[in-house]
Amino acid sequence: MTFISRNTDWKYDDLYPAFSTIKHGRAFDVGQNLFKVANCIACHKLGEQGFNIGPDLAKLDPKKKTFEHILRSLVEPSRDIDEKFQSNTFVLNSGQIVTGLVVEETDKLVKVLIDPLAKADPKVIQKSEIDERVKAKVSIMPLGLLNKLTQEEILDLIAYVYAGGDKKNSLFGEHHHHH
Ligand code: HEC
Repeated sequence: MTFISRNTDWKYDDLYPAFSTIKHGRAFDVGQNLFKVANCIACHKLGEQGFNIGPDLAKLDPKKKTFEHILRSLVEPSRDIDEKFQSNTFVLNSGQIVTGLVVEETDKLVKVLIDPLAKADPKVIQKSEIDERVKAKVSIMPLGLLNKLTQEEILDLIAYVYAGGDKKNSLFGEHHHHH
């Protein structure tokens, strides 16, 4: 059962059955490294690293601390969007449409972060320029984050998030079952 594929459009049902093997022998270092390489740190805090664009994963609500929830969030980020992190779409009177996360707002202006992965400054929009403002139905968390990863790598990443970045968690045993 090997999935050495580097461009898989992973779906929930493809990965769910693999949770039967996630309980032991996950590779901590791989998970930790993927958290960086797969860009999670651009939007999430965990351990010493990361930014607070999305939820702080070290403080994941205990009810959400399940393999299923973490996987679901990864493969279907727009399925249930947390209001606190919801993007807005602005239609400007120039006709331009801007979608992003409001990071600052005053009486006169809003600052909108369009793409957290681009590391650019937020776009400043004067309120007088705005014709319409609606909540976006799409998460700022991009689709396809797992597509370059193998199944084993994804399990290590999910284990890392589940364990809250704690190397001592029992998921990271001595025995590695990597096939
Ligand atoms: C561009 C920003 C961005 C990137 C990159 C990103 N996320 Fe997210 N993530 C979010 C936001 C925002 C949410 C909040 C809810 C939503 O919009 O779906 C979220 C939600 C989550 C949740 C659910 C948290 C909860 O409280 O329910 C998990 C788990 C998660 N992300 C893991 C990851 C992992 C692992 C990676 C890297 C592979 C990643 N995210 C990459 C922005 C991002």
